[in-house]
Amino acid sequence: MSIHVFDAYGTLLDVHAPMKHLQARIGAHAEAVSRHLRAKQLEYTWVRTLGGFPWRDFRALTADALDHALAAHGITADAAFKADFVALYDRLDTFPDVPAALSRLKAQGARLAILSNGTRDMLAAACAAAGIASDLDAVVSVDAIERFKTAREVYALVTARFGAAPADIAFYSSNRWDVAAGTAFGFVTTWVNRAGAPDEYADLPPTRVVTSLAEV
Ligand code: LAC
Repeated sequence: MSIHVFDAYGTLLDVHAPMKHLQARIGAHAEAVSRHLRAKQLEYTWVRTLGGFPWRDFRALTADALDHALAAHGITADAAFKADFVALYDRLDTFPDVPAALSRLKAQGARLAILSNGTRDMLAAACAAAGIASDLDAVVSVDAIERFKTAREVYALVTARFGAAPADIAFYSSNRWDVAAGTAFGFVTTWVNRAGAPDEYADLPPTRVVTSLAEV
C-alpha cells in the first residue's frame, strides 16, 4: 500500500487565483498584493508557532494578511471586496495537472491525503469545489494540534493517521520549506517546482523534483 500526502495551498490549490479573479476591482497591483498576502500569511504561521502565541487559525491569518497586503499597497477595499476574497479562497482553482494525477494514483490503489495549515472548513470547502474530495482518504488539518508547519507534530499527524512510519509516506509540496520539514521528519519527499525556483535548504533535499504532478 502506498500513501501519498499532499500539501494543499500552492501545491494542489492556486493561492493566487482569487486575486486574479478580483483583478478588475483592485487594479494593476493585484499580482503584487497576492504575493505580499501569501508571504505575510506564511510569516504569521511561522512566527505564531515559534513563539507559542495564542491560537489564531489559518482563515484568520489569511484575512490579517489580506489587510496588510492592501494597506501596504495603499489600497482601500470595502467589506464586500474582502468578503468576496474570502469566499474565493474557499473555492480556489486547482493546478491543471492535479485532478488527473490524483485520479491516476487512486486508480493504482494508493491512499491519498492532504496535510495542510488550512482549517478543516477551508479544506473541506476547497476540496469539494475543486472536485478532488472523493479521491482523498484523509484531509488532515493542523487545527487538530493548533500549531502550524514546520512543527514536527504537524507531520506526525500523518503517521498517526495512517499508522505508518515516516519512510512509508510520499510527501509532495511546492513549498520548498515544507519539503525541507518533510525530509527532516523522514518522509520520502517530492518538491513540485512548477515555478522553476532555485533550490535551497541544501542539507534537507527532496528525494526528487518534478515540475508538475503529471510526472508522478
Ligand atoms: C499548507 C500551506 C503550507 O497548505 O500552504 O499547509
